[in-house]
Amino acid sequence: MSKIAAADRAGLTAAAAALRDGAALAMPTETVYGLAADARNSAAVSAIYALKSRPRFNPLIAHVADGETAQRQGRFTPAARALADAFWPGPLTLIVPARADCEVCDLARAGLDSVALRVPSHPIALALLEECGFPLAAPSANRSGRVSPTTSAHVLEEFPFGLFAILEGGPCAIGIESTILRCDEQGIAMLRPGAITRDSIEALIGPLLARQSEPAIQAPGQLASHYAPRAALRLDARQALPGEAHLGFGAIEGDLNLSPLGDLAQAAANLFGHLRALDARGPAIIAIAPIPETGLGDAILDRLRRAAAPRDQAQ
Ligand code: TXA
Ligand code: MG
Repeated sequence: MSKIAAADRAGLTAAAAALRDGAALAMPTETVYGLAADARNSAAVSAIYALKSRPRFNPLIAHVADGETAQRQGRFTPAARALADAFWPGPLTLIVPARADCEVCDLARAGLDSVALRVPSHPIALALLEECGFPLAAPSANRSGRVSPTTSAHVLEEFPFGLFAILEGGPCAIGIESTILRCDEQGIAMLRPGAITRDSIEALIGPLLARQSEPAIQAPGQLASHYAPRAALRLDARQALPGEAHLGFGAIEGDLNLSPLGDLAQAAANLFGHLRALDARGPAIIAIAPIPETGLGDAILDRLRRAAAPRDQAQ
């Protein structure tokens, strides 16, 4: 049985020892809970793919304790370094060319010649990474194609069995997954919007590559249908139709409201939890109030559009 464990000194020591032995466990991060394993250990990483039923061609993010450790795994252009300096620790993942001696195993990188790196800011994630001293591969701690978990209870719902522990870290402050940027000699492209917004990135390094100039997407995490609850979603709904559950925002009240004051940060933090809660009521459709397409609204709408996409594209 998986169980929720306190992330005190003893809990962290036990967790690091279990990870060193190849176990999988859930750790809190500031974005969503992650399902972590030793990124160097293919057997441990393989268990993560199996637990999630995740296709092995969908690579994982390697979490590290600091920017120097990250730069030992991959090659950073000056712009990538500037981004790391500005936003780490924090909700930003940088995909960079892997170094020849990159510790992150092939399976975690799905055989690609790049590596996805992130220094999380959650104090428990950082303490665990420091205690381990090796990178942790950690996708979101949900079964493949389902909504990401933002509390330890969500993780337990997803994985009642199979985890060494679920480290308790409270509700995730940000609530949606990290911004993902691919950084190489061609420039910098956004692969997934998140709490580090396009504006704040462009203010630092100038314009990102246009979407059209990206080569074909290599990672199925960017497939249309992802983050899906059981119910179908209907976006931009000012009112619910009979039988629909209604997720409100701002003045549109709904059955649950992402943020009665219309605050996008609060809406992001509530997004996955509210979707789970409405889904548990068993409606065929969850109707979602309009969300403005500015700042964090971009990332929220990205997740909602993927969840609303036809399910035959699901992983
Ligand atoms: O906030 C987050 O990023 C959370 C927490 C736990 O850190 N993690 C997370 O992981 O969202 P995951 O596996 O659910 O999403 C990682 C995404 C996937 O879409 C994957 O395809 C993409 O990153 N990815 C990872 N490595 C890649 C690579 N080398 N090239 C392209 N995409 C990559
Ligand atoms: Mg995920």
